[in-house]
This record gives sequence, structure tokens and C-alpha cells, in this order.
Amino acid sequence: MRTKIWTMEEGLSGAVEALRQKETVAFPTETVYGLGADATSEEAVSKIFKAKGRPADNPLIVHIGERSQLSAIASSWSETAEKCMDAFWPGPLTVIVPSNHEAAPNVTSNLDTIGVRMPDHPVALELLSKAGVPIAAPSANSSGKPSPTTAGHVYEDLNGKITGIVDGGPTGVGVESTVVDCTSEVPVILRPGGITKEDLERVFGEVQVDPALEGAGDRPKSPGMKYRHYAPDVPLWLVEGDDGRFVTALKYYKEEEKKIGVIASRELARKLDHEPLVECGSREDMGEVAGGLYSALRSFSDTEIDLILCETFKEAGMGTAVMNRLRKAADHTVV
Ligand code: TXA
Ligand code: MG
Repeated sequence: MRTKIWTMEEGLSGAVEALRQKETVAFPTETVYGLGADATSEEAVSKIFKAKGRPADNPLIVHIGERSQLSAIASSWSETAEKCMDAFWPGPLTVIVPSNHEAAPNVTSNLDTIGVRMPDHPVALELLSKAGVPIAAPSANSSGKPSPTTAGHVYEDLNGKITGIVDGGPTGVGVESTVVDCTSEVPVILRPGGITKEDLERVFGEVQVDPALEGAGDRPKSPGMKYRHYAPDVPLWLVEGDDGRFVTALKYYKEEEKKIGVIASRELARKLDHEPLVECGSREDMGEVAGGLYSALRSFSDTEIDLILCETFKEAGMGTAVMNRLRKAADHTVV
């Protein structure tokens, strides 16, 4: 199969037709590129799992372009879910609500709940409205790799395995949506993402976090959180501590004759005299770091590097999602 790339000038008719034919189409959202297929067709959805090499027990998020589409896949929704949608849709927040089992069974891995979101991206919204059916879409990467923030990243991973890619340029937020369990009164964050805990607290007052996310050893409620994820092709080590610790660690591993690539904020990069180094934004603006993170993790794929050393960040605001992804991607933490 040759994977087609549709430019914006070509419009969305080819992509819409492919979705109608139960084919797979990658498209931009405000977070990362998604790999979409008709959520009501088991055959279409199975192509997503096959192309990504995704474990079958990891359910997919369903994307809708209008609130009225929710009743096509959800049996009911709580006031908590309603408040989430009012405050954050369209946007990087996925609500977990009771499923009405109209979505194909492989979308939800046979769970009684379903994850739904309305992305805040003009191309995604136009595609969803023209497709006319809810679209299941995980991130459009090979399972385990960093999520794609450009059409080029999607092509690297999935060329020949999917029908086409809608190239809408780079995405903005850079990390995936926040997954929030809305089946009880107090919302529970199952995966940190583009909407921060602080954002949710402004709406709800009380917000819980799945204990498994904070290392309590419980089984995560979001099945996807138990896998190693977002990993570059080269071993990734995180360095905890201040900039001085990073300088020392870098010097130490270089002396071990390792060829090292560095991922650092602009502030740390200024203090290092090292190449290759990929800057991922200012640590004073964790939104910028989130936007550059996956691209940075992919940037050493075709280089002769033995090891990537990466800075760690404060776990507040968008820093929480950034550190969640880095810890899942990392092989080791240097303390
Ligand atoms: O920003 C995003 O959310 C992107 C874009 C493409 O929309 N999508 C995305 O999908 O990140 P994916 O499949 O890579 O991640 C979906 C996450 C997984 O961790 C999965 O386990 C969880 O959502 N999830 C899906 N349905 C669930 C459910 N019913 N209960 C708990 N977790 C669920
Ligand atoms: Mg993913």
C-alpha cells in the first residue's frame, strides 16, 4: 500500500472518502496527529491496531465534531462530564463516560466505558463533520514510539501501513489530551495532558489523580498507562537535580567514551558546550517544552548516538504531562 499525503490545497475529500471506505487516515489535532477510522466499524478499527502494532487491550479515544454526536456512542453522562465538556471542548480533554456499545467492540476493548473528545483543530473538526460518523483515533505513531507532531513523523512510522495522511502542519500542544474519568462526581485524571490539573481545579475545586500515576503501584485505570511508551530509538536517561548535576553527569558519561545526545531547555543549553544538543524550549514556559518534546525525542533516530541525556522538569502545570511522558520513555534516571 502506498500512503497518500493530502495537502491543505487538495482539501479533505480524499480523506473523507477513505474513511467512508473503512480505511485509515492520519489527521492533525491540536495535541498530536491521530490515526482515524470509522468507530462504528470493527473492520476499520482493526486496521488501526494492525498499522500501529497496538496491544488489543488498550482502548481508543473516539473523536466527535459536534456535541450531538455524543449520544451515538455514550449511554449517559454525568454532570461532571457535562461540566468538563462545557469548560474544555473543543480542546485537549478526553472524558470517560458509560458506553452504549454502539462503537465497535475493539474501540473500547470490551470495557463498559468509552473515551470521547472534541479536538480544537479546524482541519480535524472539518474532517469529523464531513465524515459524519464518530472517528476512533489513537496517536498516529508505531506503538511505543514518541507520538507524532508533524505529518513527517507519521510518515516515518506508518508509510505503507495506512491509506493516507492529511498534512495540516505541526500540532500546537504537543502532548496528548488529558484523560478524565467522569463516571463519578469527583473527576479523576487517568492521564495528564494538555488540560492541567490546575485548569480542572478551577472548574471543580476537588480533582483526584489515579494513584497508579503517582507510583502507588496500583494497576492504572487507563490501560495505556501501563506500557512503555514514547521511547526514542536510542536509550534515554533522565538527569535529576540542578544544572550543576547535569554538567557533572554529562562530563562523566562522555569520559566513558559514550557518544551522547542532549535534550535540554534553553536555560540549561546555555550552560553546556556540547553537540549534538536539541533545545526543547524554555523551562519557564512548560507549554513550549511540551510542544517541542516529541520532536526532540525523535531527533536522534538516524544519528550515531549511544545515549540521550535529558533534563527533568518541575511537575506542575504542563510540567506534569511532560514528566509523565519522559518517565515512560526513559530507560534510567540518574540521581
Ligand atoms: O490527544 C489525544 O488524546 C490523541 C489525539 C489523536 O486525539 N489521542 C491519543 O490516543 O492519545 P491514544 O490511543 O494514544 O491514547 C488513549 C488513552 C490510552 O491511555 C487509553 O488507555 C485511554 O486513553 N483510554 C481510552 N479509553 C479508555 C477508557 N474507556 N477507560 C480508561 N482509559 C481509556
Ligand atoms: Mg498514543
